[in-house]
Amino acid sequence: MEDQHHHRCHCFLPIPSYGREFMLPFIILLTFVSCFLFLGTQPLSLLREVAAEKLSFLAPDLSNSSTNSKTSMNVNSKCDFSYGRWVQDENYPYFDYAGNCAFLDPGFRCHDNGRKDRDYLRWRWQPAGCDLPRFDGKDMLERSRNGRIVFAGDSIGRNQWESLVCMLAQFVSNKSSIYEENGKPITKHKGYLSIKFEEYNCTVEYYRLPFLMLTGSPPKNSSVKVRSAIRIDKLHWWSSGWVGSDLLVFNAGHWWNHEKTQKMGCYFQEGEAINMTMDVKDAFRKSLQTWKQWVVHNLNTQGSHVFFRSYSPVHFSRGGTWNDGGQCHANTQPETNLTELEREPWNNQVISETIEHIKYVKRNVHFLNITYLTEFRKDGHPSIHREEGIPPIQQDCSHWCLPGVPDTWNELLYANLLSNGYRTDTNNTRKS
Ligand SMILES: *[C@@H]1O[C@H](CO)[C@@H](O)[C@H](O)[C@H]1NC(C)=O
Ligand SMILES: *[C@@H]1O[C@H](CO)[C@@H](O)[C@H](O)[C@H]1NC(C)=O
Ligand SMILES: *[C@@H]1O[C@H](CO)[C@@H](O)[C@H](O)[C@H]1NC(C)=O
Ligand SMILES: *[C@@H]1O[C@H](CO)[C@@H](O)[C@H](O)[C@H]1NC(C)=O
Ligand SMILES: *[C@@H]1O[C@H](CO)[C@@H](O)[C@H](O)[C@H]1NC(C)=O
Ligand SMILES: *[C@@H]1O[C@H](CO)[C@@H](O)[C@H](O)[C@H]1NC(C)=O
Ligand SMILES: *[C@@H]1O[C@H](CO)[C@@H](O)[C@H](O)[C@H]1NC(C)=O
Ligand SMILES: *[C@@H]1O[C@H](CO)[C@@H](O)[C@H](O)[C@H]1NC(C)=O
Repeated sequence: MEDQHHHRCHCFLPIPSYGREFMLPFIILLTFVSCFLFLGTQPLSLLREVAAEKLSFLAPDLSNSSTNSKTSMNVNSKCDFSYGRWVQDENYPYFDYAGNCAFLDPGFRCHDNGRKDRDYLRWRWQPAGCDLPRFDGKDMLERSRNGRIVFAGDSIGRNQWESLVCMLAQFVSNKSSIYEENGKPITKHKGYLSIKFEEYNCTVEYYRLPFLMLTGSPPKNSSVKVRSAIRIDKLHWWSSGWVGSDLLVFNAGHWWNHEKTQKMGCYFQEGEAINMTMDVKDAFRKSLQTWKQWVVHNLNTQGSHVFFRSYSPVHFSRGGTWNDGGQCHANTQPETNLTELEREPWNNQVISETIEHIKYVKRNVHFLNITYLTEFRKDGHPSIHREEGIPPIQQDCSHWCLPGVPDTWNELLYANLLSNGYRTDTNNTRKS
């Protein structure tokens, strides 16, 4: 993947550094179940799992009222899509676009790369309190007419972007009316790509920015240890080009760890000075403050819909980590043992708190929380079925096969957009 080759701070996606989630005493669960049924609060995930089960058995009225039919456009905006369970569904995948989508990286084409099992494609995410609306690409494109959809982030963001482009493309019969605006090939990617959907006069763009921030040479007077600098007080200058877009989906996280920053000689810079002692968490927090300021000052969030996607878990579950034999290729089913799920990574808290603070000032800024549902999907990675030219010892348990898990992220994105009334102004004015 591009993140692994063309960046100053050269390295692969990291291993997870968070611990295990432990089972809570059942007694406590029972005590709380009744409260959840009526208050609809969202406490610890295990407690909610039980609450959801009880909900479907004991309280048909309640579940009725919070459920929307799959075809309904009127999605309950109160529904929390992030929590639920995977159910087997023979109708999946709805979008088996691998054979006819020209915008897929070789690294995500698992079947072309030799993956034989297909069961991992037949799972549908079922939120606990409602149904996800069926992804309607025609509707999504119509809502985006004359508009711009922007993804900015690391290669997992690219994974999601390619998924959306391919999902949308299934709803356009003239495939030659969909193309990269500047004729750039999809595989030799640096910088950014912009896919035009001509019939809808809209673009779906991807900007490769693992840190989102400006990165570059350190100030002249810096220590020799400093090989490059991340400006935590300056969003990358590409951001000026995003002003006026209608939907923005950010992500960051996989590069924000010690191994891929300080250890590689990448230090954090504020103003003219490198701060040699600032740790990654502080730097991430400050960067998101910078991002927040940019959102508040540059986006008309009445018109623009802004999402920051949560952390996408990795599954080097056996034998090591990303670069010393870590494996996931034996996984053909989602995780079923809840105690095997990792605890939520720290990045999520920082992102979600930042967004809560923006909400005081702007509407339509959301935390797209896909971490929990993705945590189960240890079966969805390319593993050994990654693109050619990479030592086979290095399995890819970070990215996702496409079609695959990121399609569900986009279903959640779509569901959120419906419940927030996303639509470009089809007749004229651009947002600013
Ligand atoms: C719940 O749904 C069933 C069937 O879908 C319907 O017959 C019933 O009236 C509904 N109950 C309420 C309270 O809406
Ligand atoms: C993300 O969603 C999961 C599942 O609902 C939940 O347990 C977790 O607290 C959420 N994370 C944040 C930061 O809101
Ligand atoms: C296409 O969209 C752009 C805005 O992104 C607008 O300026 C232009 O007029 C549109 N073209 C047509 C033919 O509607
Ligand atoms: C499909 O789109 C291409 C590019 O816009 C156009 O040249 C071609 O005429 C279209 N074909 C049909 C059948 O509409
Ligand atoms: C480098 O210069 C900047 C201002 O020009 C100053 O703030 C910083 O402390 C200097 N750093 C070192 C290591 O001398
Ligand atoms: C460097 O960052 C740390 C926080 O990580 C902060 O406590 C410290 O004051 C900063 N140093 C300078 C010189 O700004
Ligand atoms: C679930 O995982 C835990 C921790 O690895 C293990 O102790 C337990 O036996 C597993 N439970 C089942 C039903 O496999
Ligand atoms: C946009 O234009 C169409 C016809 O060109 C018209 O029917 C529609 O009401 C207009 N919508 C808005 C929001 O102005």
